[in-house]
Amino acid sequence: MTQKHNMNSSLTEKELKPPPNWDRSGLPAWTYLNDELFELEKEELFRRHWQIACHTSDIPEPGCYVTFDIVGERALILRDNEGQIRAFHNLCRHRGSRVVDASKGRCQGAIVCPFHGWSYSLDGTLRGAAKSHTLPDLDQCEWGLKSVEMEIWQGFVFVRFKPGPQPSIAKVLERFSEEVSLYRSEQLLSVEPIECTPAENINWKAIRDVDNEGYHVARAHPALHDLYGQHYFDEPFVNGVSRSYAPFNESAGRMWSVRNYKKFVDQLESPYRELPRAWLYIGIFPNNVLGFYPDAVMFYQDMPFSVSTAAVRGAIYKHPDENRVMRLARYLSTRIDAMAVEEDRQLTLWSFEATRSSAYDGILLSDLEYGVKSYHNALREVIPVMKQKTEPLTGTVSQINSASQSGEVK
Ligand code: FES
Ligand SMILES: [Fe+2]
Repeated sequence: MTQKHNMNSSLTEKELKPPPNWDRSGLPAWTYLNDELFELEKEELFRRHWQIACHTSDIPEPGCYVTFDIVGERALILRDNEGQIRAFHNLCRHRGSRVVDASKGRCQGAIVCPFHGWSYSLDGTLRGAAKSHTLPDLDQCEWGLKSVEMEIWQGFVFVRFKPGPQPSIAKVLERFSEEVSLYRSEQLLSVEPIECTPAENINWKAIRDVDNEGYHVARAHPALHDLYGQHYFDEPFVNGVSRSYAPFNESAGRMWSVRNYKKFVDQLESPYRELPRAWLYIGIFPNNVLGFYPDAVMFYQDMPFSVSTAAVRGAIYKHPDENRVMRLARYLSTRIDAMAVEEDRQLTLWSFEATRSSAYDGILLSDLEYGVKSYHNALREVIPVMKQKTEPLTGTVSQINSASQSGEVK
């Protein structure tokens, strides 16, 4: 790693490097297979940490909404009549139905529950119950939709279902705000609806493990290697965020898509021509990634469904004044990315399969995979039972975890 490759990092050299004689083993196999642990992950990670729900451009007009479901929680992110973005539980106060059923749509003036027809104003207050004479008087605010904690950072809408260890998302991402502001991401426009691609036979952490290191780029991702393989560098997770920086190789590129992508990026107009000729990824613990390219911005996140099923949810956004050259560049970056996603899909399946093999006795991480280690450390800090080398007896995972949190078990 040279100074050049870290010139934008806000971490010290000491924070960037693994300590001498670091423990290179990963999480033990049981942590990828245990249902009781998955229940703790749902509660401690996914309900209590910030999640990217959408970008403000996904809900451009009053009444437009996006829904976001994770680990049994259901959020509705909506733009009200004043243009303000609000987040509610997608849960009717009558009997708990979803008040909107699609992943994206537009309510005309009010939100009307599909079950018995209670209606809510776009600010979440109860407008009226169907056949209200059959019910007691209901206060509009008290019986309005319940709010979900929400914060907007550089155009991205984050939600959190329960209070947790992270401060505000602005604080979490503070050290990137200047670097990211170059991309003017508040002004981005949505291209396609947010997609959620299911992944069978996978534990969500196996997806993270592959994504948290660039050691595999040279061998597994020919196009990414051609684009930025020479200088790619993953910074470790520090305070719940990581930064991976991928300046483009100096060479023109061997592959058609890479060569032409770089050619179009070179032709971008101001202010985009001033952006670094690099791809920048920001990891937000536990499962979100923002990607900043000269031609587009994207997010993706792992959505766990069970200990062995998950999905990857995400979307790509374009710059508002996209011209032909920028569109072509974005087309090619999307294509290069799609190849890498497919290549990673296979690697994650194999990694997860391995945890079920009788021969699996853990992993040995390279210095270039210190990002994986730092991520595992962050997991262990929140859920200390993951420090256990061997699988706890059935029925004891939560108990051991609570004892470790209170310092009774090391
Ligand atoms: S559950 Fe919504 S109106 Fe009955
Ligand atoms: Fe990869």
